[in-house]
Amino acid sequence: MFTNKKRVEYHIELLSTFTATPNQGVTRLTYSAEDLKAREYIKEKMIEYGLSVREDGLGNIFGKMEGIKNDKPSILIGSHFDSVPNGGAYDGTLGVVAGLEIAAIFHENNIKPIYPIEIIALVEEEGSRFGGALMGSRGMTGLIEEEDYQHIKDENSISVIEAMEKIGLDFTKNKYRDPSTIKAFLELHIEQGPILEEKEITIGIVDAIVGLTQLEVTVEGRAGHAGTTPMNLRDDALVVASEIISILPEIAIEQGEETVITTGRLQVYPNGANVIPEKVIFTIDLRSSNEEDIQQAHNKVKKLIESKNKKQIRTSIKQHLYMPPKALNEAINKTFKKNCDKLDISYHSMNSGAGHDAMVFSDVTDVGMIFVPSKDGLSHCPEEWSDAEHISQGIEVLFETVKELAEV
Ligand code: GLV
Ligand code: MN
Ligand code: MN
Repeated sequence: MFTNKKRVEYHIELLSTFTATPNQGVTRLTYSAEDLKAREYIKEKMIEYGLSVREDGLGNIFGKMEGIKNDKPSILIGSHFDSVPNGGAYDGTLGVVAGLEIAAIFHENNIKPIYPIEIIALVEEEGSRFGGALMGSRGMTGLIEEEDYQHIKDENSISVIEAMEKIGLDFTKNKYRDPSTIKAFLELHIEQGPILEEKEITIGIVDAIVGLTQLEVTVEGRAGHAGTTPMNLRDDALVVASEIISILPEIAIEQGEETVITTGRLQVYPNGANVIPEKVIFTIDLRSSNEEDIQQAHNKVKKLIESKNKKQIRTSIKQHLYMPPKALNEAINKTFKKNCDKLDISYHSMNSGAGHDAMVFSDVTDVGMIFVPSKDGLSHCPEEWSDAEHISQGIEVLFETVKELAEV
């Protein structure tokens, strides 16, 4: 075993301390003070493992290991280092740490790849600060227009550009990564679901990633006094928002097993206990492994929301993100399987119900993704946990696969 289990555990543990919510899970929003601390740690380790470090115009971090043929495209390995609010220590972070460990193994053993290898740590995969997930990878692959970043704002109306400046990042640097400079992208992630644990299998090999759309809905009504306004004279934005939200599960169930719909964030204005809500903004996250189901369910959701426009009530919908389901690279998956067999590690082919940067990269390069089991299937919560032995085995499979792709 090349993987240093203690070192991997240490990185995960240490990165989990860069949180805005100590004792209540990991809250590491993009371009926050905690992002800056994690960023400095990741860059420091990259340098320690002999990588040359740079950040792009979104603050995505790249640590490059020279290849014997350095003009060849790179094998990219990594994941994101932002988190959801009160999330866990492994989602995204594990993939970055796995990349660091691969770099450490190459460095310690003086292994020289023919193709360059780049360890990457991406920003804002979760969309927890700016809405519309996968911003780091979408920015890198040219899916976001340069002029749009000034309009992408957090809930305090701080734009991506302002937030980057605040932690000393240079927005004016290049963001676009020419796909001809990438040979493949590999991501190790926690499963975030119960299947591997239930089957007692160590590695999930991802065939496809579900498609998703993320919407922001605004309902506008009229504010008024909670004590003096008769019930029949109200235009309560929160009551209407609740009517919409309560129907969403029915739409998902009617659409079919694989369709899921979630409202996870709600902002009520002016948010006073004795004021009739004037405005509500809430999110809708809709997913399925079947593109048609996403579109049909999305249409039903739109109709439902539009049907609430009456009297003084106005609704509007912004679509922050749409990603169709994505199949990953079959040849890389074969290599993962072969390496699991070689290392005598159990594996299972599966789809991912969570979104990942891997789905964005799959449009521009060959992508492979593997999972390790999540305790009790839990993720996006402080209880998220994966076994260090499983993680080490995942990194070994990744290492063997990287060696093949980089022609060691
Ligand atoms: C990321 O974790 C997502 O699936 O939203
Ligand atoms: Mn996540
Ligand atoms: Mn993730």
